[in-house]
Amino acid sequence: MFWLGIEQSENIKVLVVEDDDEVRTAMVDFLIKEGYEVYSAKNGIEGFRKVLEVEPDVVLIDYLMPGMDGISLCKAIKNNSETVDIGVILITGVDDLEIRINGLEAGADDFLSKPFLIPELKARIRSLSKIKKYRDFLKSYQETLESEVERKTSDLLKAHLELKKAYEEIKELSLEIIYRLAKAAEYKDEYTGFHIQRISAYCVKMAESLGLNKEQIDLLKYGSPLHDIGKLGIPEKILIKPGILDEFEREIIKKHTLIGFKILEGSKIKYLQVAEKIALFHHERWDGTGYPYGLRGKKIPLFARITAIADVFDALTTDRPYRRALSISQALEIIKHSSGTHFDPELVNIFFKIKDQIIEIRNFFKDEDPKSDRLFLKFFL
Ligand SMILES: [Fe+2]
Repeated sequence: MFWLGIEQSENIKVLVVEDDDEVRTAMVDFLIKEGYEVYSAKNGIEGFRKVLEVEPDVVLIDYLMPGMDGISLCKAIKNNSETVDIGVILITGVDDLEIRINGLEAGADDFLSKPFLIPELKARIRSLSKIKKYRDFLKSYQETLESEVERKTSDLLKAHLELKKAYEEIKELSLEIIYRLAKAAEYKDEYTGFHIQRISAYCVKMAESLGLNKEQIDLLKYGSPLHDIGKLGIPEKILIKPGILDEFEREIIKKHTLIGFKILEGSKIKYLQVAEKIALFHHERWDGTGYPYGLRGKKIPLFARITAIADVFDALTTDRPYRRALSISQALEIIKHSSGTHFDPELVNIFFKIKDQIIEIRNFFKDEDPKSDRLFLKFFL
């Protein structure tokens, strides 16, 4: 360890503060010969200035000096956080017990009585300089540790922020792709303005009112726009056929649920797992007369039951080539009338409970309003 090597006097700075020229010169000469780096001062004021200037390891202070005496200088050194670790040896007379007590109270580390023996002086300087070097080492080690901890903490924080940013970017990218995919499917069909945007917003409001948690609400928010993704697999001549479809064509259209399932099945992404179920079951009916499987009641997944109400309400309140949009009150009447047959009665109650918010969404996302798409993306991402 480093302090084992300081038996030699090199690199040890000693400051001698002594008003007697003869004694000071003798001490300085002796210490230089011993190999110390020596500084001197004639009084307390000059002594403290040099303490600050040269940062000695040990200060030898004569107790009796004019002006600032040894006790005052000792106090000044020990009361300063920059100099408190410097070893202070107070030089007193042989019988100055009271001065020694005052010196101890002032923080002196050791005493030398005049006249003192050279080996004693060397031993005391060596002992105090070891302690000073040890304290310096600890201080420097602590500073290094603190700085290392600070650096590592800062690196970790930076890495955490970068990861978070990357995660947010990937999430945003995924969600926007989901949204664009849903829009692409809509263009295959007769374009219905902001149908998928409103569906997502209606579903979110219903899920909130049902008391679902944030994760569930998000799954429905991002899964519901893909409910008709299967229409990508339906021939356009049927999808956009003006007028009434025949039985065969209706059966083809119904296949969009199974095609949607095929497109989305097997994903590890939760949003797509939810979207897969919504695509497959959003045309099932509460009374079991829906398709593709004729599931009944709560056997139909909740998210599909919610999406079914949102989907029908939006279709009823939207212009189609073969009919004008119904009024909101007419559409609400149909929803109410279909409670327990087409729709889950509990969810119809929820839908009516938040009727005002549903109407607000309907009026906010107006078809063919170019601003609505940007506003929706803000809500969606
Ligand atoms: Fe559909």
